[in-house]
Amino acid sequence: RKQVTILDIQKMKDEGTPITVLTCYDYPTARIMDGCGIDVILVGDSLGVVVAGHENTLPVTVDEIIYHSRAVMRATPRAMVVADMPFLSYQVDIPTARLNAGRLIKEGGAAAVKLEGGTNMADTIRAITSMDIPVMGHIGLTPQSIHRMGGYRVQGKKEEQADRLMADALAVEAAGAFAVTLEGIPQKLARKITEALTIPTIGIGAGPGCDGQVLVLHDILGLCEKYSPKFVKRYADGRALIADAVSAYIAEVRSGEFPTEAHSFN
Ligand code: KIV
Ligand code: NA
Repeated sequence: RKQVTILDIQKMKDEGTPITVLTCYDYPTARIMDGCGIDVILVGDSLGVVVAGHENTLPVTVDEIIYHSRAVMRATPRAMVVADMPFLSYQVDIPTARLNAGRLIKEGGAAAVKLEGGTNMADTIRAITSMDIPVMGHIGLTPQSIHRMGGYRVQGKKEEQADRLMADALAVEAAGAFAVTLEGIPQKLARKITEALTIPTIGIGAGPGCDGQVLVLHDILGLCEKYSPKFVKRYADGRALIADAVSAYIAEVRSGEFPTEAHSFN
């Protein structure tokens, strides 16, 4: 099987084929997802919340993203692996951003990196792409900006905000990004941005007018206890599935039903 590249992703936009993206953080799950034919796997800094139990994505480190990327990369002969740049790994200055992007490729084994920001990050995106590291942008509701936004709120509802988001999208494309994530913005605006850009848009909470869609794996599997936002669709009741298996194991060990002869050595 051939590995998906940024050329394939661009071709999918040009041909009107929806691009499928999900987050993933570990080897066995990535094996399954790659086998299902997912186009892109994002090792998102959402792992800080859904895997590590943090309140938000801010505590995630480059080393953590590298660790999870390596696990995912070993399981993905087909899917393209994109590694998220965590908070403070690219905002301080451009040399730091270049070094950390390089580490995600060299040590993490990712094929591209993703970072949050628009016009304000154009120079950083340009500096990383000039090292031949493909960059995916991420604008709109950017979770690393939680303290500025005052919570996870839909962005671009007001006209002035919407104009700024359009400018951000164009700046990200002009800086050389190969794709851009549009998160938490009105569907009409997402469609307008998608039509204005040459590069593909990947939506999350941005409606059906994007070139592709991304969701957090734990959300679609129903693994998260906490409130899940309106834009998530649950495709499985993962919590019930795991609880049933664990409860059955506990009950069988307690009753002596497990292990049997079949599970024992002589
Ligand atoms: O970290 C993440 O999972 C993301 C996606 C939700 C786009 O950035
Ligand atoms: Na992220």
